[in-house]
Amino acid sequence: MEKTPIHGMWSSRLAFILAATGSAVGLGNIWRFPYLASDNGGGAFVLVYLGCIFFVGLPVLIAEILIGRHGRRSPITALAQITRETGAPRAWAGIGWIGIVAGVLILSFYSVVGGWTLRYAWLYLSQLFGGPAILDPAASFGAMLADPAALALWHALFMAVTVGVVALGVEKGLERAVRFLMPALFLTLLLLVGYGATTGHLGQAASFLFRPDWSKVDSGVLVAAMGQAFFTLSLGMCAMMTYGAYLPAKVSIPRTVAIVAVCDTTVALLAGLAIFPIVISFGISPEGGGPGLIFTSLPLAFEAMPGGIVYGLAFFALLFVAAWTSSISLLEPATAYMVERGRSRRSAALMMAGLCWALGLVTVFSFNIWSHVRMLDRDLMGLIELVANDIMLPLGGLLIALFAGWVLKDSILREQLAGMPAWGFTVWRWLLRVLCPLLVLAVLLNALL
Ligand code: PHE
Ligand code: NA
Repeated sequence: MEKTPIHGMWSSRLAFILAATGSAVGLGNIWRFPYLASDNGGGAFVLVYLGCIFFVGLPVLIAEILIGRHGRRSPITALAQITRETGAPRAWAGIGWIGIVAGVLILSFYSVVGGWTLRYAWLYLSQLFGGPAILDPAASFGAMLADPAALALWHALFMAVTVGVVALGVEKGLERAVRFLMPALFLTLLLLVGYGATTGHLGQAASFLFRPDWSKVDSGVLVAAMGQAFFTLSLGMCAMMTYGAYLPAKVSIPRTVAIVAVCDTTVALLAGLAIFPIVISFGISPEGGGPGLIFTSLPLAFEAMPGGIVYGLAFFALLFVAAWTSSISLLEPATAYMVERGRSRRSAALMMAGLCWALGLVTVFSFNIWSHVRMLDRDLMGLIELVANDIMLPLGGLLIALFAGWVLKDSILREQLAGMPAWGFTVWRWLLRVLCPLLVLAVLLNALL
């Protein structure tokens, strides 16, 4: 029996693809992927990452969306309902709670970095009107990080535009925002790869990204690659589950999901091919760039190339857009849940965003007044990323795989995946039942021990 959605519905398959791609494509692809590759030795990291996407990410993505579409509610409510229908232990609804907590943690630092993109877009905009050039990008980036008030302000601005969309709802807010933003993003990235090619270092960048040096693979690389696979596909925290709840019944899940995953992976690889040639051409080592990588290397190129200011503005504006369409999906699950608990959408969105903003101050301070605080060899922002991205997301994904693979009734799976060829269904189910949980568990245990 088909449940009716209460939060709204995507108006078409395309609208869902844009929204889900909007969620997937974000800072994870353009900011995080290049510097993780840079910090983890390049090719070996990239190949492990691609393996995680294919063997773990894709099956779990299908599972999340089908659970969402079957439940038609926010993750916590939907999972609780399904356990009631199937007589499974209520504890499975805990997946929804893990998701909401992970989402709040991720949005807290995501919005801080989203604020950086706004600040850089602003710097280039003001350069168009005669503002000062970014002569020493590393110093400029360092000065920004040293100023907690400025960071908190950009962070607040970013959070404000996120709430603005989520408060407007699925059709009027989420869907309208992604319709023209996503194509524009793709185009700018292609132009930038084109520029990277003119530097003459495309080949070197490609070999750094794709030639594996297996001696570099240790448990740290595995954990980072698995965490990034979940992060980049917006998996393990029920964001995709929530978007699935608004998906029209007729749309084929596997085919649609494949498009989203291909777009996300393409954007990450293109971002690498755009950024590393520039990094290398300025004599910077592509290794060990850290979170500042794109903010310190790209401005060097933008200041040197003809028309670079317009380019810089376009790049950071679009990076902001990519971050924006993702942060919307980070806020939506918790908001939908609060709406089901009886709040208005507007107050629910505001409340959750306020919470994430306040928590984001930990990330803000991790760059200045609390920069001396280190745990597990990381600063506080790194610690939040470790807990949320590298532990909670894979754990959430593991539980989702087990839930969809073993607990959900066969009839529900077949109804949601109608039209999928029988062999595909079988492969998918065994990936979900056995391979995904084992791989994720192996990586997590390896990291702990
Ligand atoms: N997928 C987004 C990115 O790559 C981040 C994200 C994670 C969004 C989890 C939603 C949920 O930037
Ligand atoms: Na992504």
